[in-house]
Amino acid sequence: MRTPLIAGNWKMNKTVEQARALVAEMLPGLQAVPSVERVLCPPFTALMPISAMLVGTEIGLGAQNMHWEAQGAFTGEISPGMVKEFCQYVILGHSERRTYFGETDQTVNKKVHAALANQLIPIVCVGETLEENEAGRTAEVVARQVCDGLKDVSKDQAAKLVIAYEPVWAIGTGRAASGEVANRVLAEIIRPALAGLFDTPTAQKIRILYGGSVTAANAQEFFGQPEIDGALVGGASLKPAEFVNIAIAAA
Ligand code: G3P
Repeated sequence: MRTPLIAGNWKMNKTVEQARALVAEMLPGLQAVPSVERVLCPPFTALMPISAMLVGTEIGLGAQNMHWEAQGAFTGEISPGMVKEFCQYVILGHSERRTYFGETDQTVNKKVHAALANQLIPIVCVGETLEENEAGRTAEVVARQVCDGLKDVSKDQAAKLVIAYEPVWAIGTGRAASGEVANRVLAEIIRPALAGLFDTPTAQKIRILYGGSVTAANAQEFFGQPEIDGALVGGASLKPAEFVNIAIAAA
């Protein structure tokens, strides 16, 4: 009943010319999988040209971050309104933003509210570090990220949200979580936290993705799990055939 969603997080990769070439190569394959919600998240500089390429398709576009303020003296930042000019989605709270750029659950929460106020669908990333995982703190950390990141969001708004569970130790390492382990975090930690924040029917509507070393080879292992509604894909989203095959696996 939840529509599967596949999002490609290109991170800091691709010039405009390279981005255009990548989209041109993957577009026919992606368009052939209409039962899956498909989203591309290139860097800011490629959003305008890629949005032009996606006109008339059902492929969505997302930014990888944004500021929560509407405008003003925030050198180097991009506002929700600027993202909204080209995008329908925005990735928020990615672990790389938390680790390298000082993002906290509180700044993620401000961004979530700003995104929702601008009719953008937030893809909110949560996930524990290796150290936290090994210390047995996964439940505490992930539940806190969900509850603090989504503080004061209304039930109506919440139903549109997307959560991405990305264990930090699995990102870009080639060491994906097993489907079963990821499913357990969703079933035992994230969805109950959402039910506590909102209510069970609302929690059931929220899509939860897995992210971390997803490839065409392991995608089915994740999509076969009852709680996993799709994937936030990093490295493999830069390989056209591989990304298309991941979308096919989600159908
Ligand atoms: O947001 C996607 C992500 O962090 C996973 O990256 O390269 O491990 O698929 P990757």
